[in-house]
Amino acid sequence: MALSRLSVSNLRNLAHVDIQPSPAVNLIYGENGSGKTSLLESINVLALGRSFRSHKIKPLINESAPALTVFGKVSHSGTEIPLGVHRPRIGDSQFKALGAPVESLAELASYLPLQVINADAFGLLVGSPKLRRQYLDWLVFHVEHEFYALWRAAQRCLKHRNSILRRGRIGEGELTPWNLELASCTEKIDSLRSECFERLLLVLEPLLKEFMAVDGLKLSLYRGWEKGRAYQEILQETLPRDLKQGFTGSGFHRADIKIRINGQSAADILSRGQQKLLVCALKLAQGQLFEQLTGRRCVYLVDDLPAELDEKHRYLLVKWLNILRTQVFITGVEVDPLISPWSDQNQEVKVFHVEHGEITSED
Ligand SMILES: Nc1ncnc2c1ncn2[C@@H]1O[C@H](COP(=O)(O)OP(=O)(O)OP(=O)(O)O)[C@@H](O)[C@H]1O
Ligand SMILES: [Mg+2]
Repeated sequence: MALSRLSVSNLRNLAHVDIQPSPAVNLIYGENGSGKTSLLESINVLALGRSFRSHKIKPLINESAPALTVFGKVSHSGTEIPLGVHRPRIGDSQFKALGAPVESLAELASYLPLQVINADAFGLLVGSPKLRRQYLDWLVFHVEHEFYALWRAAQRCLKHRNSILRRGRIGEGELTPWNLELASCTEKIDSLRSECFERLLLVLEPLLKEFMAVDGLKLSLYRGWEKGRAYQEILQETLPRDLKQGFTGSGFHRADIKIRINGQSAADILSRGQQKLLVCALKLAQGQLFEQLTGRRCVYLVDDLPAELDEKHRYLLVKWLNILRTQVFITGVEVDPLISPWSDQNQEVKVFHVEHGEITSED
């Protein structure tokens, strides 16, 4: 799975860019404000319809243009999948794959699985449970085809149940159908998540050994309600509390990956640098398991690598990216710290220089 062509119009300061990336390693360097992160954002827009920096579209569109367009070709097993995203300031956006509009952004996301390692990615450890839930669900989504429909059905039930709870007065049996469907979807979501999580732990172990010399680090899945209990039972039991609060307090929407060191939250103990390394290991494990389970590889976007990791760990990250044999796009201000870890990795490396929104290939 690799982007073989990327064409961008009017995304931030990138007026017109058209490149043919290497299927392996793409190193992008340039001064502050030249457009490196914007280039990575354009790949994110192609894959997911939006940036990794924010959900807002307007700031992404070049200030003097009415719309942004990103077009790309994804090559996979000898075929090429054209993808296109057009997002105007005013009016409807268009998302296309294989020349036809996609049915949903979830469909678009399935064509170009991405992993982003940037300063925000480190929030995975210290941020809200939602981020860790999204991390696990990314895998489950790409690996288990029934997951997305189940997740949507569960969200719908939750919304209805919460609106009844907020209203307060509940008619006899009014909650029953929502409880039943929510419980059925929730138990299935939980078993898909648990299965994926167990596999993830196996892949993560060797990575953690190399990236983190920390004893007692343990990851566990909190499924969103009490261990060993059926969710249906919990819904009955917590009804008085839910009614008081006006929302459903337990469930799949409360799941989290607990990361602890000898029983204490890892976020409270690890240094900032160690947190980054742990997040790198988590992202690499995700890509590795994704490949094991689907035979496909995801594309890695690594923004400002030298700013995030010291030299030793840059080499380590590169070593593992190399093992994964995925396509990578890595940015940095200086070219040397970007190139040197790849010099003996026997990969097809392309170097791009970005200057005032213009990109030139240096090969
Ligand atoms: N909507 C927009 N229209 C035009 N230019 C924009 C828009 N949004 C941002 N910019 C400009 O685009 C430029 C590129 O920003 P980008 O974040 O890609 O830079 P960068 O090369 O990653 O820099 P750094 O090394 O500081 O991270 C910046 O100068 C920024 O001010
Ligand atoms: Mg940047």
